[in-house]
Amino acid sequence: MINQKKTIPVCPDLSINIGTLRLKNPVLLASGTCGYGMELDGLLDLDKLGGIIIKGLSIRPRSGNPPPRLAETPCGLLNSIGLENIGIEVFIRDKLPCLRNIQTSLIVNILGNSVEEYFEMAKRLDREEGIEAIEVNISCPNVKAGGIAFGTDPEAAASVTHAVKKATGLPVIIKLTPNVTDITEVARKVASAGADAISLINTLLGMAIDIKFRRPALANVFGGLSGPAIKPIALRMVWQVVRAVDIPVIGIGGIITPDDALEFLMAGARAVQIGTATLIRPSTAEDLPAGIRDYMRANNIKNVENLRLPA
Ligand SMILES: Cc1cc2nc3c(=O)[nH]c(=O)nc-3n(C[C@H](O)[C@H](O)[C@H](O)COP(=O)(O)O)c2cc1C
Repeated sequence: MINQKKTIPVCPDLSINIGTLRLKNPVLLASGTCGYGMELDGLLDLDKLGGIIIKGLSIRPRSGNPPPRLAETPCGLLNSIGLENIGIEVFIRDKLPCLRNIQTSLIVNILGNSVEEYFEMAKRLDREEGIEAIEVNISCPNVKAGGIAFGTDPEAAASVTHAVKKATGLPVIIKLTPNVTDITEVARKVASAGADAISLINTLLGMAIDIKFRRPALANVFGGLSGPAIKPIALRMVWQVVRAVDIPVIGIGGIITPDDALEFLMAGARAVQIGTATLIRPSTAEDLPAGIRDYMRANNIKNVENLRLPA
């Protein structure tokens, strides 16, 4: 009789750690594309996700830019929302209580116009139950430096990181802007300033012109480009940053399908965020954990980290 060896199928483990933050799977909703979370109730099952990242909050409410604030492009979306939000206090009072009931990790995204504002926001959130990590949007203008975005100046990016780390014991994820010459320089600086993780990319600066009305399509003229059009750039930057720092990296940019997410995980991202895809079809992210699991099972891969390609 032929001695046939039985292969036992692996049972993939999708859970991951980002600093002290443990996520049940590596799929998160990106800031600014899932509102304050509960807007998506009934449109997708938040409990199936690894986590959600709340729309960027500022110290005081902001009304954002005048309309038009959105313009579609081939395979992409331009937005100049201008970081409209209800402000941190209203969020804590009106939105956070409901969010404490969801069975997925809650990450709050913050923005500021000075290092002090970032510090105050992180300190305020640190006292609130239910928040598991803070993501810091550094694509905002530094008022004291004449409006240059913190994220385009490695020293300023490090100062924000340092201040936020001093203000909170929560894991701190620094979200990088791609609108720089060398993204690894900023990544290295924020990592050595104590960031627990890095997420990238935020939107790429772009514009569109409405030829019928002969004016820029956005009232703000420039906006941030997102969606599938930016995926190859985001993937390249994630690959570079993963190989430049020793902290976990979260990949963002144009992810729609499980295959897109797998590309980022193979580039070395520990997790991924889904942004514009949620605006196209709100339940997109829900299918991704199962798609990633199917691939891992079919290829005998036990842990998400084992997906990473060698250098
Ligand atoms: C309408 C819109 C609003 C956004 N608002 C924020 C925000 O408040 N804070 C932030 O850090 N990123 C914000 N982003 C950037 C996304 O989180 C994400 O980094 C970017 O869109 C790239 O991912 P995607 O191609 O999957 O959309 C926003 C993006 C869009 C499209």
